[in-house]
Amino acid sequence: MMKDFTYFNPVKVFFGRDQIGANLAGTLGQYGKKVLMVYGGNSIHRTGVYDRVMNELEGFEVYELRGIEPNPDVSSIRQGVKICKEHDIDVVLAIGGGSVIDASKWTAAAACVDHDAWDFFSKPTTIDKALPLVTVLTIAATGSEMNNGGVISNRELCKKVGRSSPHIFPKASFLDPELTFTVSRYQTASGSIDILSHIMEVYFNSQETMEFLDGIMESMMRTVIKYGLIALDSPEDYEARANLMWAASWAINGFINGPVFQPWNCHTIEHELSARYGVTHGHGLAILLPRWLKHVYTEEARSRYEGFVKNVLGEEPADDVAAQLSELLSELFFEKFGVSGQLKDLDVPADDLADIGKTLCQNGPVKGFAELDENDIYEILKMSY
Ligand code: NZQ
Ligand code: ZN
Repeated sequence: MMKDFTYFNPVKVFFGRDQIGANLAGTLGQYGKKVLMVYGGNSIHRTGVYDRVMNELEGFEVYELRGIEPNPDVSSIRQGVKICKEHDIDVVLAIGGGSVIDASKWTAAAACVDHDAWDFFSKPTTIDKALPLVTVLTIAATGSEMNNGGVISNRELCKKVGRSSPHIFPKASFLDPELTFTVSRYQTASGSIDILSHIMEVYFNSQETMEFLDGIMESMMRTVIKYGLIALDSPEDYEARANLMWAASWAINGFINGPVFQPWNCHTIEHELSARYGVTHGHGLAILLPRWLKHVYTEEARSRYEGFVKNVLGEEPADDVAAQLSELLSELFFEKFGVSGQLKDLDVPADDLADIGKTLCQNGPVKGFAELDENDIYEILKMSY
């Protein structure tokens, strides 16, 4: 029976070329004058985004938290919290991708409590409020700009954990496709595959769904594949970057789930790989997805596999549709998007594979489209090696 559901998304989106100039200062100004600007490495200086945003911030008191690393570490959040508390920050401004936005979300929440930021992930803590957050997105991938989740690593403990709260939705997000023209080929491929994976983790389900949403998901996935491949060769194609950016935000803002809620198999495994070996999120997913779908196939799920092969990839489904889909996805990710296809390419030691499954299943099987025990995870990782 189709489940009831609630949909809530309060993020205001400013999409397009001129939105930062027209609306950034006014948006920030609604929350106060003291701004903590959070960003990653050098890309925002190289691309000129830093200067562009700073031009708009005349009259604001701006503090900076720079150097947020991919797979952001809790130590960066602790630094951010210190600045927020010392200077009584009014609003957090994230400029970057998922790593910067996630770090900003948890900085905004941790600035409002007395305990350590990691307690949000390791203890049963409540989240009652957060500082207001505004984002300027520079890479289309995680959808963090339009959702209420954030994933944080703790390198000391070798963990990567996600959590959500209605208090960490950004108040507003600025999506200018031109800011993503400079994203490298590799990050464009990884980001596109991450977007696809967010849709696939919902599309492949065994619950009662809606035809309306299935059709939308298939169309979104076709669009991401089409424009992801175009953006690889034509990084300054506005149409391609715009489609990727808007698809990224809608892939994981709650809309496509509708009545389907299930945990995500591949993301759970990939986060363990990122935690242990610093794997780039979308690249890890590219390696896992084709093997996972092959491993978890059941006859009851046949129509999902056939739907994907036919309506997303435009091929006639074969008898062995699981093997066919696995091969088609491998070709798409490893040949067309050009990311390497084996875990050994990412310096994952072969001896660790069994232990990864053990760690993930220490509190029971990994839930999702399929229920995966440690042997399943070992098999998927072995195929991916
Ligand atoms: O650090 P800089 O110099 O800015 O370079 C970044 C970084 O090296 C670069 N980059 C970003 N914008 C650029 C650019 N380079 C050139 N031009 C630009 N315009 O791209 C690199 C990757 O950035 P990052 O933010 O790490 O990538 P992404 O957006 O893929 O974020 C990945 C993180 O988000 C988490 C992942 O686990 C990972 O930690 N996720 C967050 C989710 C969420 N909050 O909903 C869901 C996702 O499934 C995911 O788990
Ligand atoms: Zn993801």
